Amino acid sequence: MGERRPTRRRLPGGRDQGTFRLAVVRWRGGQGRCAVIGLAVQSSAQGPGIALVVLAALALGLLVGAPVLRRHCPVAWWYFVGFPCAWVRLARTWRPLMAGCGLAVSRKAALVVVSGLVGKGAPPPQPRVPARGVLHPTAGGFWFLVRLLPGQVPDSFAKAAPAMAEGWQVHAVRVTAHRPGVVRVVASATDPLREPRIPRHQESGRLLRVAVGALETGAQWVIDLREVPHWLVVGATRSGKSTLINALVAGLAPQPVALVGVDCKGGMELSLYGPRLSALATDRRQAVKLLSALVDLTLDRMAVCRTAHVRNIWGLPEEDRPTPVVVIVDEIAELFLLANRSEKDEAQAAGTALIRLAQLGAALGVFLVVAGQRVGSDLGPGVTALRAQLGGRVCHRVADPGTAEMALGDLNPDAIKAAQAIRPDQAGTAVLASGDGWERARSHLVSETQAEATAAEYAHLTPYLPELADFFGSPSAGPAVHLERLDGDNPDSKNPRDHT
Ligand SMILES: Nc1ncnc2c1ncn2[C@@H]1O[C@H](COP(=O)(O)OP(=O)(O)O)[C@@H](O)[C@H]1O
Ligand SMILES: [Mg+2]
Repeated sequence: MGERRPTRRRLPGGRDQGTFRLAVVRWRGGQGRCAVIGLAVQSSAQGPGIALVVLAALALGLLVGAPVLRRHCPVAWWYFVGFPCAWVRLARTWRPLMAGCGLAVSRKAALVVVSGLVGKGAPPPQPRVPARGVLHPTAGGFWFLVRLLPGQVPDSFAKAAPAMAEGWQVHAVRVTAHRPGVVRVVASATDPLREPRIPRHQESGRLLRVAVGALETGAQWVIDLREVPHWLVVGATRSGKSTLINALVAGLAPQPVALVGVDCKGGMELSLYGPRLSALATDRRQAVKLLSALVDLTLDRMAVCRTAHVRNIWGLPEEDRPTPVVVIVDEIAELFLLANRSEKDEAQAAGTALIRLAQLGAALGVFLVVAGQRVGSDLGPGVTALRAQLGGRVCHRVADPGTAEMALGDLNPDAIKAAQAIRPDQAGTAVLASGDGWERARSHLVSETQAEATAAEYAHLTPYLPELADFFGSPSAGPAVHLERLDGDNPDSKNPRDHT
């Protein structure tokens, strides 16, 4: 580094007008490098009054303008006002916050004694706090990494998240393990789930992938059935289950997939999508037959894959690949609840068929979305086994803690607390879990009328599955259009049902 000396440049005109002026102060480096490091306000003899007026006008402008900016352009407000304020708050509170949450580590006693002896009255060394990285602003918050001190684990940081949110005056803070010894702290400035924005362009492209809502991080909530093939959706009445299914159906309707419904409440819910359904069962007896037919379809596909020496339908050539089938089961309890003993066999058969579909379906293009108010073991032994097969979990507001535990129980206990905290006025909000993580999300408000209109619009895409011919269309909608046969054109097919 060369010798540095400050140089000062005056803006032209400032002195003559005798008011105030801005001066750019520069440091000049040895190799002729220079950098602007600041702006200074200069004032002449009459200037201070005017400078104060200008500063007051700026402050007033900020006071008046910031709320307007926040209302009309919240993202710009966050970048220009909210984030700098949060940054200052974080810098000021980091050390006391760490100490208050028990995340600071005291210096060695010997060091404190030595510093007291040689420090000539200087304050003793402060406890060590975890080092934090650079703050990265995002459209709705910020994130940064923190290096843990020896003896600390990510969980101790996660416990401090509510205190961090209070200290930085943000909506929520989430702490996740980033890599060994480092955690990622993500802060959301406001609740993006209060009014999730429907994306202008629905994500097109990938088969079986639908953006159904927004995540707490502000990102899209995407259900990708090829990634997580089977889903369990629970929630009390009017918690948002049907709205989520509406959003899913509206996203799947334009895709080349077959939609199959099982709605044992007389088809009240799923018959809305009638024209786009390849099959619909409206009572338990029909459901057992339909689910058994789907198991047969899955077994046929298995034989096809075995013959072709591939492990799943995606390994088959595109022209031979069977249509993916998404089975939507509304109110699972209706399948399992028994009014009398004679219904026991039916309930057992339905449960067994669902479990088999869940076990075999993912590789063979059969996906399950099972919704219900409760999924307790009181519904029967089959329910627990089925629940274990449904890897994707969506827990809306629940009427009892037991249901949240059953939906998310094998996951982080924080997820259960988050699900129980959903209020009735937050319909559509849910805690999602798949794999080892969990997040809060809210579905897009897709009304029944919209879902019905979308189903009608894409009715011409409804694939005809010969195996399910008995259940074609809904009672109200009448038979749907038979456009495409699953594998009926395949001359090698030995399945007699292919020719029904
Ligand atoms: N994502 C959402 N955003 C806003 N409001 C919602 C959302 N989901 C549901 N609601 C409101 O809650 C009501 C009940 O939702 P619904 O999906 O029918 O519940 P459920 O099927 O669980 O009984 C809807 O009519 C709607 O007014
Ligand atoms: Mg409903």
